[in-house]
Amino acid sequence: MLGLPLDEVLLALLSERVAKELGLDFGGAKTEDLRRLLTLAALEQAGTSAMTWLRRLALESWTAEQRRALAAQLTVGETYFFREPEALAYLAAQHLSPLIQRRRGEGARRLRLWSAGCCTGEEAYTLAILAMRMLPDAKDWQLDIIGSDVNADFLARARQGVYGDWSFRQDAASLKAGHFHPAARGRWQLKPEPGRHVRFLWHNLADGDFPDAERGLAGCDLILCRNALMYFTPARAKAALERLLACLAPEGLLLLSAVESGLAEQAGLAGSLIPGGYALGAKASTLARPRPEPQPMAAPPPPAPAAPRIAAPSRAPAPRPAPAAPRLARDWPEARAALERGDWREARERLERHLREDRPSLGREAELTRLLARALAQLHELPAARDCLEHSLSLDRFQPEAYWLLALIDQDLGAPRSAQENLQKLLYLAPDFILAHYLSGLLLQRQGRTAKAAKAFREGLGLLRSQPAESLVPEGDGMSCAQLTALMESQLTATSS
Ligand SMILES: C[S@@+](CC[C@H](N)C(=O)[O-])C[C@H]1O[C@@H](n2cnc3c(N)ncnc32)[C@H](O)[C@@H]1O
Repeated sequence: MLGLPLDEVLLALLSERVAKELGLDFGGAKTEDLRRLLTLAALEQAGTSAMTWLRRLALESWTAEQRRALAAQLTVGETYFFREPEALAYLAAQHLSPLIQRRRGEGARRLRLWSAGCCTGEEAYTLAILAMRMLPDAKDWQLDIIGSDVNADFLARARQGVYGDWSFRQDAASLKAGHFHPAARGRWQLKPEPGRHVRFLWHNLADGDFPDAERGLAGCDLILCRNALMYFTPARAKAALERLLACLAPEGLLLLSAVESGLAEQAGLAGSLIPGGYALGAKASTLARPRPEPQPMAAPPPPAPAAPRIAAPSRAPAPRPAPAAPRLARDWPEARAALERGDWREARERLERHLREDRPSLGREAELTRLLARALAQLHELPAARDCLEHSLSLDRFQPEAYWLLALIDQDLGAPRSAQENLQKLLYLAPDFILAHYLSGLLLQRQGRTAKAAKAFREGLGLLRSQPAESLVPEGDGMSCAQLTALMESQLTATSS
């Protein structure tokens, strides 16, 4: 448990402030997440002045710097290349292809595509790859592809264009062969050609500063804003949707994920379910009509204005395609058994397939990728294990075990500073994690920071005192508390002498 007394009033004020500044909804059941995320952020950002920092955060408008720092703490990063391929194929065939033909005929060879809430860039680069595939004469086109996000850390990774296997869950072999070079540590670097059409910019969908022609956030032929507004309060989602629609060219389209169709409909916007998504035309706002009152004598309504090709102007969404019968999560029990008996290769294979084919919920995905990281670390695939852990933590930041594994991997990779940072985060979350005190002491000792090292050993020994001598140390691979006590005592003596 973290020790900050975040009372309910302060928490409610913080929740309101977060909704105002970033659009994010931490009401209801998510309030506990907010309490823990903000406590972690406060301890990281402000140390001993954490409470003062939180009070100011609740009561004052945020500076740009605070908005950036908090966005990095509160947003969820989950994405991969060609996510929902059916939606992309549908848009390519039904929207982009006729649009490209028309523009060619008119001699207006330009396209502007925007991935709003692009995370680490996979979606924006997907748009670039898609456009390249559709435009053999791409060099004659003015192709402007924008990726924007409120999380500056994600954007920095997007600009690098280097990805681990985790980003390739669709069509991996042909994507890698066609558009990537192998890079260090088993990663993949995007080739220059699709990359040169893409620019990334920091942008907050909860701000009122768009459309913005100067930054190119206007006149868009296609906007993908998927899996971002689902974290917004309905009021902020509505405002963002209306601004996004205003950023479309007259025949442009906005694509949301299928689960976000409810947000659009709640906002009174008229769109259509398409395979793998929900599409809205530029006129969706003006097409929205209040539910008619029963008025027997009322004149018939005027015909609706022409709708874009695929977004039929109807408040009643097209019937959803019947969902495929849910696959049984066959691989999970076998993966768990393999983990228990230490068959890391089998565990890896099962976990990877389970993740790829069974589409678990985000919380479950966080747990499964953490377990996959453990198997990969045991197989000495440390960079891949690290990628998995970062992915897992981007879905759920409250996993002490994940920080522990990261610290061990960083230590093995010769990155003691990063290992120490991860131990610090772990100890914010789980101050009783005995081995973290021990490893922290060892790392500090090696850096010559003897006073801090001694403090870490003393804290570990204090925790050990309350444990039965023969009980096993959690995560200690069979080490008993008595054995760890002896080890820590000898380190403490060495540090103090
Ligand atoms: C789950 S990811 C989705 C990424 C990608 N669109 C996809 O569907 O694969 C959600 C993204 O929305 C971003 N986001 C959250 N709040 C935002 C805001 N207020 N403005 C802009 N982006 C935001 C997050 O930082 C995160 O990168």
